[in-house]
Amino acid sequence: MLPAMGSTPPVDDWDSIAPWWRREVEDDPVYDHQILPMLESLLPTFEGVVVDLGCGEGQGMRRVVERGGRPIGCDLSRELLGVARAAGPVVRCRLPDLRWLRDGVVDVGYSVYVLDLLGDAAGFFAETARVVRPGGALVVIVNHPAYTPHEAGPIVDVDGEVLWRWGTYLEPQTSVQPAGDATVTFHHRPLGALLTMAAAGGWSLVEMREEGLGAAAIAREPGYRGQEGIPRVLGLRWRRLS
Ligand SMILES: C[S@@+](CC[C@H](N)C(=O)[O-])C[C@H]1O[C@@H](n2cnc3c(N)ncnc32)[C@H](O)[C@@H]1O
Repeated sequence: MLPAMGSTPPVDDWDSIAPWWRREVEDDPVYDHQILPMLESLLPTFEGVVVDLGCGEGQGMRRVVERGGRPIGCDLSRELLGVARAAGPVVRCRLPDLRWLRDGVVDVGYSVYVLDLLGDAAGFFAETARVVRPGGALVVIVNHPAYTPHEAGPIVDVDGEVLWRWGTYLEPQTSVQPAGDATVTFHHRPLGALLTMAAAGGWSLVEMREEGLGAAAIAREPGYRGQEGIPRVLGLRWRRLS
């Protein structure tokens, strides 16, 4: 886990860090090699009304378009939406508020690296369950909760093996993390809390995937070598109960 930063107030509006995020997307091969393929394989279909929840500059939407879909994006940042709109219609909103969508009109909702930025995860599951039709799907990709607690991080054993310290994993908590020159607030929730919230919202778990750092991440940051077997990315697919 990156060191917590207490002095800089975290951003509430991603417009101020939009240029940084766009550079990250351009420079980081992990999306192309690991995250977008994971998204593609978790999505049950690219057809129908597909909504990208927190679309950013639209890389997930572009992938859905490449597979024949016609996604709608939503996000908080006007600046990022201005780029994403090249891939489909976009709406500015502050998740979990989806009042711009009527009940049951969505076939598939998906969200990549957004859920742990939201203070109200229970609201996210309830509101997505309202707008997705019975039998429809929700896909979420997010930092694995093993990675997000305070004091979690690698420990190198005497023989060189990299072990993982759980830190304060069992406690829901927030941390302030660097985002370019600014900071953002992350919300850590233990896996059990996350899955229980989704179930309470009306979601039935179909698939849960846990992955470590892939080859692209290690190539970009050789200091991560040895952490390949440690959970880093969590991918989930639920079906909306009738
Ligand atoms: C780490 S970026 C991920 C963007 C995109 N899903 C991707 O994978 O490229 C997080 C995104 O969440 C958006 N975001 C953060 N809080 C939000 C909120 N409450 N409602 C809507 N979007 C939000 C930010 O504007 C940003 O685009």
